[in-house]
Amino acid sequence: MSNSRKAMTAASVFAARITALAWLAVGAGTVFLSPACKEKEARRRLTLSDFDTLALKPPMGWNSWNKFGCDVDEKLVRSMAEAMVERGLAAAGYEYVVIDDCWQKDRDARGNILADPERFPSGMKALADYVHSLGLKFGLYSCAGDKTCEGRPGSRGYEEQDARQYASWGVDYLKYDWCHTEGLQAEEAYKKMRAALEAAGRPIVFSICEWGRNRPWLWARGVGHLWRTTGDIKDDWESVLKILDLQVGLEEYAGPGGWNDPDMLEVGNGGMTADEYKAHFSLWCLLSAPLMAGNDLRTMSRETEFILTNPDVIAVNQDALGVQGRRFRKEDDREVWVKPLADGSLAVVLLNRGRVKERIAVSWAELDIETSTCFVRDLWRKKDLGRFLSGYAADVPPRAAVMVKVKPSNIID
Ligand code: GLA
Repeated sequence: MSNSRKAMTAASVFAARITALAWLAVGAGTVFLSPACKEKEARRRLTLSDFDTLALKPPMGWNSWNKFGCDVDEKLVRSMAEAMVERGLAAAGYEYVVIDDCWQKDRDARGNILADPERFPSGMKALADYVHSLGLKFGLYSCAGDKTCEGRPGSRGYEEQDARQYASWGVDYLKYDWCHTEGLQAEEAYKKMRAALEAAGRPIVFSICEWGRNRPWLWARGVGHLWRTTGDIKDDWESVLKILDLQVGLEEYAGPGGWNDPDMLEVGNGGMTADEYKAHFSLWCLLSAPLMAGNDLRTMSRETEFILTNPDVIAVNQDALGVQGRRFRKEDDREVWVKPLADGSLAVVLLNRGRVKERIAVSWAELDIETSTCFVRDLWRKKDLGRFLSGYAADVPPRAAVMVKVKPSNIID
């Protein structure tokens, strides 16, 4: 590895660690300033450290919204959790099973949030227990406003009560939306719920969903573990590209503990070709995005399963360095995206946005690799392609991506 490349990698590792440590330090400071009694303080300290280490890597799981919208019930959630195990997603790293909007119906006379009794007759505690019994984690959705986006009761004014309820049900993940929030200030509203979750005493991943309206990347680290950067994804190529373009420049805000969220996956939902889905998944992995599958895991094709569980591509997403990849070069429809990895190699995505086949090349020199040869592995063909002198080029089909791992030959395993 060249000295400059080494320095860049070392600097990125350092920056990622400092970011995680800085947050830990802020959390610890809060604890030491707390006037509470020793025992309570010790309990809080435990809770805080649990919170701070909840998303050192981008969270992975499944969410009901993209495929099922409001049509959610306990049978669906149970069978999806079972499929997550049976179809190999759990083994590939997916763990959170999250019910999005529409599980809520009402509040009781004391203000307690109630699950829809027709759709969830066994109740949320039983459902969470079942998901946990499969070795998975359980997530719910609420909203900072008076109502959710689908008009169900929101958490405004009930933050602590709701957080306590989620904790008592065994919730591990909360997605928190931004509809019906007239008069609210986003940073304050999300801090309020974060504090309520901490006070409830159960480690809960907090997913901020205000669609990038208030530039959450500037304030959300230490409040939530992931923050949406854009409006909702749709199951088509244009939507993937539109969201992708909006990630450019946000790289520096992601890192262990807090992640930019370009929205959940559409892989397997039927609106794109297999090549488009592979490109979507490649790019989300390169962006260190949370990987929330949004399809029907029970009935997915082998091809969809192959995409969602590719260990080499997931390893890029979950890489310990935790650096979000960036767009390195753009020439019309031909783009090169690069993410540095902990072992000193680079993940490279060659993206063809357009409708005709394109040859896309990248040279070691432009990547600041000074060794003359690198080993290249094709992550979708799952094939070591061998040593390449000075660079790599591939013919990329229309609306598709080639994803490779480039390892300078002087790196010792
Ligand atoms: C918003 C969010 C979506 C989904 C819906 C549910 O649009 O951005 O991801 O949660 O609300 O109503």
